Amino acid sequence: MYHQPALLQECIEGLSIHPSGIYADLTFGGGGHSRGIIEKLDTEGRLIAFDQDEDALSNAIDDERFTLANENFRYLKNFLRLYKALPLDGILADLGISSHQIDTPERGFATRFEGPLDMRMARKQGVTAAQMINSYPEEKLHSVFKLYGEISNARLLAAKIAEARTNPITTTNELKEAIKSCTPLNYESKYLAQVFQAIRIEINDEMGALQAMLKQCADVLKPGGRLVIISYHSLEDRLVKNYIKTGNFDGVQEKDFFGNLIAPLMPITRKPITPAESEIKSNPRSRSAKLRIAQKN
Ligand SMILES: C[S@@+](CC[C@H](N)C(=O)[O-])C[C@H]1O[C@@H](n2cnc3c(N)ncnc32)[C@H](O)[C@@H]1O
Repeated sequence: MYHQPALLQECIEGLSIHPSGIYADLTFGGGGHSRGIIEKLDTEGRLIAFDQDEDALSNAIDDERFTLANENFRYLKNFLRLYKALPLDGILADLGISSHQIDTPERGFATRFEGPLDMRMARKQGVTAAQMINSYPEEKLHSVFKLYGEISNARLLAAKIAEARTNPITTTNELKEAIKSCTPLNYESKYLAQVFQAIRIEINDEMGALQAMLKQCADVLKPGGRLVIISYHSLEDRLVKNYIKTGNFDGVQEKDFFGNLIAPLMPITRKPITPAESEIKSNPRSRSAKLRIAQKN
């Protein structure tokens, strides 16, 4: 299976779908969420989907109400304009990577497979994980691991990589070998997952894309339109939460002359929605999902 969608029912409810509305699924993947949306549309409704990974194109839905753009969602507004799909009634984003990406050894995302250190979601462009690991100055590696992996011995880890890369590190196993002496024995898999996550976030500029996308959401939504976002780690969730609450990434509330909050969106859920035990049991990858729902003011 390409990917099992997380919090499917909760997302569809959160979008509060108008059957003849226009919706965007910014992270199409295997299309699980998209299919849930399209089922609720009538003949007038439309769904525009985005995925920067060309592998996702093989899951395209054969339906004249559906359009799939093999593009980065950071260019959301431009493509919606191109498809004459503005304004939107709702946006869904299920951030991060798909099971297909993790489970394909040649993509280099998984700590448990031997494969090339690639980790690009869009394979036609950008810097691979190997290029990053072999070229970033040690200090820059340190900050990537600290910031995006929240790794406690990030400085030592960066030093180990800098020391080992006299012979370029090109595969997942070579990377694991290079950092073996600083990988804690008692929680090896968690540590490696954090290392790989940090590299992936950096080379795909996941934080940059998320910020660029969030800044466009209020512009492309109709008043009352819904924004539904699932994030999988605290850095993403913080950006989403702050932006929904305050319209900026620092979470600082601004007020107008009359003391009214100036924010383009309004949270519908105060706390994030998380999967039930039964969902985590049947889909363990959903365990860190946090869903936030907002409405355009
Ligand atoms: C968690 S999966 C989504 C799974 C999907 N909801 C489903 O039901 O199958 C995330 C997908 O978003 C894509 N993606 C991540 N960041 C993206 C970005 N900035 N622009 C476009 N696609 C992106 C990934 O390539 C991946 O296929």
